[in-house]
Amino acid sequence: MSPKIKNILNKKNKSKIICLTAYSKNIAEEIDKYSDLILVGDSLGSVLYNYNTTRKVTLSMMIEHSKSVRQGVSKSLLIVDMPYNTYRTKAEALRNCKNVMKQTKCDGVKLEGGNKIKDIVQHLVINKIPVLGHLGIMPQTVKGKFKSKGKTTNERKQIIRDSKILEKAGAFGIVLECVEKSLAKKITKEISIPTIGIGSSNNCDGQILVTDDILGLTKSKIKFVKKYIDLRSYIRNAAKKFKFEVSSKKYPTKKYSY
Ligand code: KIV
Repeated sequence: MSPKIKNILNKKNKSKIICLTAYSKNIAEEIDKYSDLILVGDSLGSVLYNYNTTRKVTLSMMIEHSKSVRQGVSKSLLIVDMPYNTYRTKAEALRNCKNVMKQTKCDGVKLEGGNKIKDIVQHLVINKIPVLGHLGIMPQTVKGKFKSKGKTTNERKQIIRDSKILEKAGAFGIVLECVEKSLAKKITKEISIPTIGIGSSNNCDGQILVTDDILGLTKSKIKFVKKYIDLRSYIRNAAKKFKFEVSSKKYPTKKYSY
């Protein structure tokens, strides 16, 4: 097991695991110091490409963005989301994950699903590919509106069962997306690997958010998203000043000319 994965596992019950997404080098460089794990999420489909589903994200998009992110990550564990329909069978998953690991030099992959993908997770882990699981809302397979998980007894039982299955299959952690607070607490207590929450309360071992959301680059109105800065207003102001200075011939001055 790599020291970076050991570091994540060791944090369980000791200190919170800090995770953020990145889709490019410049952002990755700035968040690396403050993160334990950086995820190249397939959320890039909606955030950057305006897709209405992550299903449209391709393997080559993930690879190209991850190569860029890799240039900015030195300290954090770098995990790449495997897009929809790239891990339907053991053979397909291994081939595609190996390709992603080789081309992007990432430290592991993230897959959505529980019982359905247990053999695939096990196969990848046996073949030395670290896997981060993803349960609760799973954007690649969600039907209709995104609704929080754990409201019914059946749903609760299924998520608990899936968490234990992923743990047994060898996943090193599980992202819990929009899982009800007491259920997140129960799962976090009952499994030995860390849970990373997104909209799943502070009862998880760590938290992840989409960096573009916390920077105010998206127009997200999702309940769990906290905007830490309104970067759009800074961009607008810089563009406005540039426009003014070029129009009024204040830029470029001698200092900015050869
Ligand atoms: O695609 C993504 O960015 C994700 C996280 C937000 C968990 O899956």
